[in-house]
Amino acid sequence: MEKSWEILEGACYSCKKCRLSEMRTNVVIGKGSRTADIMFIGEGPGQQEDLTGIPFVGPAGQLLDKMLAAVHLSLEEVYVANIVKCRPPGNRDPHDDEKEACLNYLRYQLAMIRPKIIVCLGRIAATTIISPDFKITKQRGEWIERKGYYITATYHPSALLRDETKKRPAWEDMQAIRKKYDELKEQ
Ligand code: URA
Repeated sequence: MEKSWEILEGACYSCKKCRLSEMRTNVVIGKGSRTADIMFIGEGPGQQEDLTGIPFVGPAGQLLDKMLAAVHLSLEEVYVANIVKCRPPGNRDPHDDEKEACLNYLRYQLAMIRPKIIVCLGRIAATTIISPDFKITKQRGEWIERKGYYITATYHPSALLRDETKKRPAWEDMQAIRKKYDELKEQ
């Protein structure tokens, strides 16, 4: 069956596949360009995201915006989404069954957008998308090629807000992402 954003939105807005649906104010699907070459994937909505229905609008999102702007990327060129589309209570990590229940929506988004680059923001995204034993401190900045995607991971912006020393490596990752994007554009 042909895929469409209307189908995805309808399914997400009425989703009751896991317990997070009972607590949400809004489902948070994604933001940015639906033809983006780069997709950033975070963990799950926080309080501001739950209230607005838009990913990465709180403090972590504002830092992400600054980092994107610093490498001259905007929401016209990237798409931003999360592993789970409803807020886990108190911002706890999403449970395995909640991730499992939600992942088909993310797969559907990926299939529609077909970005060239996927950037996992933080441990939850990296262990879900790259490998369950992914270690963000050791393996961030590495690239793998899978199913036609170039995939990497960097620190979650919330981690940068908690620990300033992570800002420099995250900045290096962001520059490498920009470089990969430019290389792929030239091909
Ligand atoms: N943290 C995330 O992982 N995603 C958001 O949308 C906001 C904060």
